[in-house]
This record gives sequence, structure tokens and C-alpha cells, in this order.
Amino acid sequence: MINLTIDGKALQVKKGKTVLEAALENGIHIPHLCYHPAIKPIGSCRICVVEVKPGPPRPQPACTTQVAEGMEVITQSERLLELRRELVKFILVNHPLDCPWCDKGGECLLQDLTHELGIDLVDYEALKLPPHIDYESPLIERYSTRCVTCGRCVRVCRDRVGASAINFESRGYFTELGCGHVPLECEFCGTCIDICPVGALINKLFKYSARSWELTKTQTICPYCGGGCNYEVQTKDGHVHRVRSEGSLLLCGRGRFGFTVVEAPDRLRTPMIKRDGQLVEAGWEEALNFAARGLKEVIDSAGPTAVYGIGSPRATNEANYLFQKFFRVGLGHNNLDSPARYNFARALAGIAAVFGEPKLSGLELESGKIKVYQSPWKIQEEASGSGFPFVLGNTHHLNHADVILVIGADVTPEMPTYGWRIMDALKNENFRLLVANPRKTKFDRFAHLNLRYHPGSERLLLMGLMEAVLEAQPGYTPHLEAEEFEDFKKNLLKTSLAKVAKQAGVKDADLRQAGKMLAQAQAPAIIFGHDLLAQEQGQENATAVADLFLLIGQPCNKGSGLYPIAEKNNTHGVCDVGVLPNYLPGYQSLEESGGPFAKLWERPVPAQPGINLAEMLNKLEDNEPDAPRALYLLGGDLVRLLPNSARTEKLLQKVRFMVVQDAFLTDTARLADVVLPVAIHAELDGTYTSTDGRLGCLQPALSPEGGRPDWEIIEEMSRRLGYPMNYGSPQAIFAEMAQLLPIWAGIKNGHRWPHKKIRASLSGNFVPFSTAISIPGEGKYTLMVGKTLAHSGSYTTHAQGPQTIMPGATLKINPADAKALKVAEGDSVRVISTQGEITVPIAVTVELPRGVVFLADHFGDTPANLLTSNSNLCRVQLQKG
Ligand code: SF4
Ligand code: SF4
Ligand code: SF4
Ligand code: FES
Repeated sequence: MINLTIDGKALQVKKGKTVLEAALENGIHIPHLCYHPAIKPIGSCRICVVEVKPGPPRPQPACTTQVAEGMEVITQSERLLELRRELVKFILVNHPLDCPWCDKGGECLLQDLTHELGIDLVDYEALKLPPHIDYESPLIERYSTRCVTCGRCVRVCRDRVGASAINFESRGYFTELGCGHVPLECEFCGTCIDICPVGALINKLFKYSARSWELTKTQTICPYCGGGCNYEVQTKDGHVHRVRSEGSLLLCGRGRFGFTVVEAPDRLRTPMIKRDGQLVEAGWEEALNFAARGLKEVIDSAGPTAVYGIGSPRATNEANYLFQKFFRVGLGHNNLDSPARYNFARALAGIAAVFGEPKLSGLELESGKIKVYQSPWKIQEEASGSGFPFVLGNTHHLNHADVILVIGADVTPEMPTYGWRIMDALKNENFRLLVANPRKTKFDRFAHLNLRYHPGSERLLLMGLMEAVLEAQPGYTPHLEAEEFEDFKKNLLKTSLAKVAKQAGVKDADLRQAGKMLAQAQAPAIIFGHDLLAQEQGQENATAVADLFLLIGQPCNKGSGLYPIAEKNNTHGVCDVGVLPNYLPGYQSLEESGGPFAKLWERPVPAQPGINLAEMLNKLEDNEPDAPRALYLLGGDLVRLLPNSARTEKLLQKVRFMVVQDAFLTDTARLADVVLPVAIHAELDGTYTSTDGRLGCLQPALSPEGGRPDWEIIEEMSRRLGYPMNYGSPQAIFAEMAQLLPIWAGIKNGHRWPHKKIRASLSGNFVPFSTAISIPGEGKYTLMVGKTLAHSGSYTTHAQGPQTIMPGATLKINPADAKALKVAEGDSVRVISTQGEITVPIAVTVELPRGVVFLADHFGDTPANLLTSNSNLCRVQLQKG
């Protein structure tokens, strides 16, 4: 610690802090402009000047001067005040008098400084630069003469977002922000808007809609990806006007500009029931009775197991918990699952195969009054745990990893929060990044090594990486206790590295280099996502990833862990709270059913495992006698987002009765007999769980117009079907749920499970996997179906911001392939698979290797999953459209 005084106040601060940080942390105000805590200081505006003793005679910028032992700092003096006044006056020489109409009015640092420094006259003259207002960007307007050239936007875009989309052009007085006369590579995250201290960058969706002081601010959680960003919804007169990050500054474009989803004109506001084959509007009572009657008829004729439940990775933990309870206790079976089956549930199952199921000891259920949204489980000193949750990484620690391998994921579109942490990790000199994907992704440019493998060859590549680790350090042994290592090793080494590399499509020298990096890593992390999990063999892929981690992982070192990407805001939560056919809440065995569950639920709990979503669809296809006759869906657009849309649609049509709770009339909801409109994130109280197991509490900023919270509707349905549940609030549901989830011990808003106080006692067993590559279909090209940054599922296609950035899909194709097909950018092509055909415009890009094309799956008019069969990969033919 360093001892110093600031304005005579004795302070102790950490070594390495700057004078400005030391002052701000201790409540001492030093005016500043170019400094922002989220980015590295550059000391350019000089507004923060202070006098330092011992030190040079000239005042020094507090934001770049480090504290030193015995330092005396003066922050306020006539000399400093005069200097700051002069500097601000220089800025004001060319600054327009826009305050009355500038959106930054009331929250502008330049306004505040002018007021604080008492500047009422600018007694300098200079050439007035003409205003240059750039309206071209779809969501951000730029006002050149309002810019104070602080460089905050340039630094945040380059160092935190990793986009480097903007920079300064020209010099001196003529300095202006631009994109360097190259095509703008903006991610439309809007971070530059929020970090700009003045009104030089304006959010087009907010422009002129409200003054900052009129807005009511509500802290809640973003409803899109599994990142779980906390954000602030700002409302006025019952409408959302903008969304800002709470604390961390960073949000992606979906979060920042996708808030209009709440007020989308096509939101469902009234229940609908099917009459004469048409969905027509109905009142709530009528619709609920109709839904209950339809389910009851199926139960009476075919038994309760004929009603299958599909929970939602978009709905809260409380709604999903109630949903599974309704099935398990109300209907008495485990036939329920969620769309997480096609991604994150595969990851958890794959990791569990290697590291085991969760086991805990040393926890005690507290009996006193527990605070709202807090776990009642107390962690004793000797508490310990094992199993898959303990190898799952903590997003906040990811930047401490010394090697990150990204495999089968396009990090930024899938989950920008991991991307921001990689940007932070890149600041560490010894950090190494390996990016493995068949196509070029954003992080290729930052990677120390890229491995572009053939689509579908992930397990081969993972096998090659393990071989390369063993080759890099003969005698290498896992850091964790591992069973079956010798046999596994023997099997691995049967195929030469050169052969593996050739089959996977990478250079063996690159595999060797990657192996060296992984073998030397002290805190290796592996990120994997949709490209790997959405394949039919997604679970086996995840097992192979877990095997690699068992070989190299050191989860007791900060940052080292497995980082699977959960696709949606509550994909992790829907699994945690038990919407799984083979686990009770908290991943507890169905054999536990006689224990705490039956006691608390006061009814026997079925021990027979249910069928999963994929099995359920197979049963429908095969007309099996135990195929479901009714479906109850808590949202989730299965038709749009599951592989093979035509099949999914056909199978759902086979079901006699279908109830859907959703906020929009999705492709799936259109098939339902009853559609019940739901409240969504900014209208809800409750919790979500992020990808890394962090609890986020929602607070309602708006009242739902017409829709009702999912949990309330489930209660209504359950009551009508003879199992009354009367919780009355999400807090009451959470209180019961948390008693049944010891794994959530210590959890509360913003905290993750498993809690750091629970000592991990980890071991694993190597699980063999096949390396056969199978891509279904026929055709010269391999189609990869995946995610884009502008959208999240089909949800954002109802939001103005994301639709402005990306209103529809394009088929990404390599220039040589486009040339061979005689098509150019924007031309349409027919994409033909064994399952179906769509016509889509193309985007020519070197991101794709020859023979591989990419299509995003968010859009209804170019339904990518009309082409797929059982995987996100399939062979297709292309024809000029
Ligand atoms: S919106 Fe994001 S990516 Fe685009 S310039 Fe601003 S900070 Fe950079
Ligand atoms: S646009 Fe804003 S953040 Fe960027 S340099 Fe200008 S004043 Fe600073
Ligand atoms: S979509 Fe994900 S990364 Fe973007 S703001 Fe929302 S939670 Fe954060
Ligand atoms: S805030 Fe320190 S130089 Fe700008």
C-alpha cells in the first residue's frame, strides 16, 4: 500500500493506482473529461491537472500520474482552476450552442464542467468549423462540432469491444472522428454513445424522445443471450425510451437497441383460441377454460403422460420451476424438456459424462427468515462439492485464463460477454488465444493461432489436440485425478497426428503448436458453443471437449474452466430448475423423489425418467402408442429454431391439442389451439440464470398490456386441472424452489453458483468418443446454420433496432464459389437440400472457406432450418436464383 495525502487528507491506496483513481475512490472530486474508468487513460484533455510534490513544477494530469509513497497532491488552487477554465474555453471555441436540443443535455460532462468552472464568456476566437452531421449509420448519429476529441469512443471500441471501427482523422484543430476511409466495421453495440461525455454520438432510437431528467430508471436483466447483462431500462409515461448498461458500460447492440421488443406492434395482447381452424381472439377466462378443457380431454382419454411439457429458456426460473412442478406433481410424470436439449443440455450432459453429477456436502438449510431471492442454504466451513458444475467457468474470471481455446463457437454473436473478457485477457502479455472454427470469426484477428478445420470434424480436432499435448510433453499427466488415462492415451496415440490433422483439414505443425500452448498452460479455458453443440453429435462433441479439459484443466487456478455458451437468457436456468426429463431441480436424481421433494410438495414424485424433446418428436414421427397427444409449451419457437422445420411442423400438427404461452404469434404458436399472451422481461419480477450460473433479478419497469406473467398462467392452468398452486408472487415461488436447490447455496442477485466457499473436490474419467464425421444430405456445399450478432433467436426480429441493423438473412459464400456460380453480392441463390429449398440473397466474403456456406436461423422468410435435417450442418446444392 502507498501512503499519500490529497488536499491534506492522509490516504492509503494500492500501488499502481493513479492519483485520479485514488481521489475518486476516496470521495475527492477532480474534474476530468477524457478519463473513464472502463478504459486506459491517455491524459489528453488535461482538465484533471493537479499539483504534485515532490514532482515537476508544472501541474500533472491526475489520470496518468501514479501514486507514490509520501506524495502530496493539491487538487484545488487558483492556478489549477484557471488552467482548467482555459482548457474548457478552448473546447468551447468551436462548440455549438446546441444544449437546448442536444440529447445529452442534463448528463453532459462539458455542461457540468462549464458550470463548475464558472465559465460565462469564451473570450477567444478561431475559425469556426462547419458542422458535419453524419446520419448514415443506421442507429448512431455523429455531430462533429460537438466532439471534444477525448478519444473515449475510439479507445472503448478498440480495447474493450474489439471492433476498432472508428478512429480520428486529420490533425490538430481539424481532428475529426471517422472510420479511416475504409468500410465501417461497426458492431452497433452503441457503447461509444454511452461513453461519449458530450452529445457528439447520439442514439437514433432515443433522439428527441425525452430529456434525461424525465426518465425513470429500473435495473433489470437483458432478455437475449446467456450473458445476463444487468441493464437499466429508462422509461417515461409508461414507455421505454432507452436502455443503458448498469455499471459495466458494455452491452451489445441487441441489448442496447433491442429494447423496443417490449412495445413491438405485433406483441400478443389478447389470448387466442382456435375456432373452425382459425385462431381468434378470446377473453382470458374463456381461453384458460378452453385450454384446460382441451388438456383434460386428453388426460381423460389417454392418461396424464400423454400431455408433454416444453419449458422455455426465455421464461424466468420461477415460471419454469412451477411448470415442472405442475407436470411432476400435478400430472404425475417426467415427460418434459426444453429447447435447451438442442444445445446447452447437451453440453451439461457431455461434461457430466466426464466429471460426474453434482454431489455436495457441508450445507445446512437455514430456518429463519430468508431475504428475497436469496438461497436459504448455509455453507459450512467444511463444505465441499464435486461433479460437472465445478468445472464450469466464471465469466468474471475468464480474463485470468492464460490460454483460451475457442472451438466451435463464434463468440461475439453467440455471447458478447465472453468476447469482452477475451479482449481483457489480451492485455496480459503471456496470454495466448487459439481460435478453432471452419470459418473466420471476429477473434481470428486477435488469435495467436487459428485452426480452420473442416465442418463437423470437431472431435477429430480435439483428439488431435490431446495427442499434440501428449507429444509436446512426453510423460504428461492430467492435473486432476483422472481414471482410464492410460487406456485413453493408448487409444489416442493409435492414429498419427499427421493423419488426424489431414482429416480435420488443419496443418499438423499448427496442431503441434496448439498442443504446446495447451500443455504449458497454467489456467486453460475452453469456450464452445452453437457450431459444436447444435450438431446431432453435440453431446459427444461436448464429451470430447470435457476429455480435453480433464487432460489440461486446472480449475483451481483462476480462469481455468469449461465455458459452454448457453444460447438464451435463461437456458442455464431452465435446466437448473428441473425442466429436464431425467433430473429433479438442482440436477438431483429422480430417485430422490421420496425425499425432500415429496415432503415439500406433499405428493409423491414420479421416479420414472421421462422422454426428452428429441425422443418425443421421434415418437410422434413413428406414431408410437405412447407419443404425446397434447403439448403445453412455455414459449420457444420450435418450428423456426429446431433443425428440420418442415418435420417439426408436421409432427406438431399431429398433436391433438396444443397450448402455447408466448409474447408473439410465432411459427409454432400459429399451430396451437390456444395461445396465451405473456409478460416479458421489462414487465416482470423474477430471476434468470446466466450462462455461468449467475442469478439476475428482474424488476418490472412497465406494466404488461394484456399479457400475464407465465407463472400466473401456469397457476391458473394447474388449478383448473385439479392441482391448485397459489404462490401469489415470484418471490414466494423462489423461496420454495431455493429450498430444493442446495446447489444454489449462497446465491443471491449477481452471485453465481457453485459458491466459491464450497471447496471443489474434482476428478474425472476419460470417456472414449467416435471421430466419424457425418454431415447429412447431398450436394457440393456444406451449409452451416448459426447465429448473428444483430439477433437472438427469433425474438429480436420483432425489435426495431436489430431489424434496422439486419432486416433479413444473407447466405455467406466464398468469392471463388460465388464466381463459379456466376453470382455477385446481393444476387439471389436457391439453396436446395434433401429437406427443402429456400431462395436467399448472398453476401460474398472471405470468412467462409470454399465449399462452405453460412446462413443465420433467425428469420421467418428465409427459414434456414427448412434445409437442415438433424443438425446445424447439412449438404446443399446452390443454383443461381
Ligand atoms: S457502436 Fe460499438 S462497434 Fe460501433 S463504433 Fe461504437 S463502440 Fe465501436
Ligand atoms: S465522439 Fe465523443 S467520445 Fe468520441 S472523441 Fe468525440 S467527444 Fe470523445
Ligand atoms: S444480448 Fe447478451 S451480451 Fe448483449 S446485452 Fe444482452 S445479455 Fe448482454
Ligand atoms: S481526464 Fe485526465 S487528461 Fe483528461
